[in-house]
Amino acid sequence: MSNEKLSIQVKDKEFIPYLSEETILARVKNIAVQLSEDFKDKNPVFIAVLNGSFMFAADLMKQLHINSEITFVKLASYIGTQSSGKVLTLLGLDTNVKDRHVIIIEDIIDTGFTLKKFLPVIKANEPKSISICSLLIKPESLQVDIKADYIGFEIPNRFVVGYGLDYDGYGRNLKSIYQLK
Ligand code: IMP
Ligand code: MG
Repeated sequence: MSNEKLSIQVKDKEFIPYLSEETILARVKNIAVQLSEDFKDKNPVFIAVLNGSFMFAADLMKQLHINSEITFVKLASYIGTQSSGKVLTLLGLDTNVKDRHVIIIEDIIDTGFTLKKFLPVIKANEPKSISICSLLIKPESLQVDIKADYIGFEIPNRFVVGYGLDYDGYGRNLKSIYQLK
């Protein structure tokens, strides 16, 4: 079957398959194994950044076999397929992370503005450590000096949807990741 046939429509745009469900889940499992080793007996707190990371966070947590907590914050920076550069906190941190090992879970690091803005907020809560775990990163798009500790896939600077990531609110339910055609 050609990619032409497998392409999907999300709102007004066409997307082609990019990372399959199996590929994603295999990588998520790898990361979970790594985290389980690195944070064994450290009782970390995961902070998942909504909305985009919900599916990644759920699959990652299912594969973890260490004591840990998870909480959520909701940040927004995107309008359509463009980063707005402005980061809004729609739901803030409600968990005490003082002296805890914090692991931030993101769906994707694009310009890096979201994390750049969010990191000082976490730091102000005096955690023992902060690590960043992002399913995707677009190295060519990065505009700030952010270093992720755990990365699923480095991808080219092209808009993607699926597995939690949206185009204008749609496409989050897709089991695999699609790239703008
Ligand atoms: P940043 O602040 O530019 O790093 O963007 C971070 C947020 O923008 C991510 O957490 C996503 O929610 C969203 N985003 C960035 N690139 C994409 C994409 O290709 N598809 C869908 N959402 C994206
Ligand atoms: Mg996000």
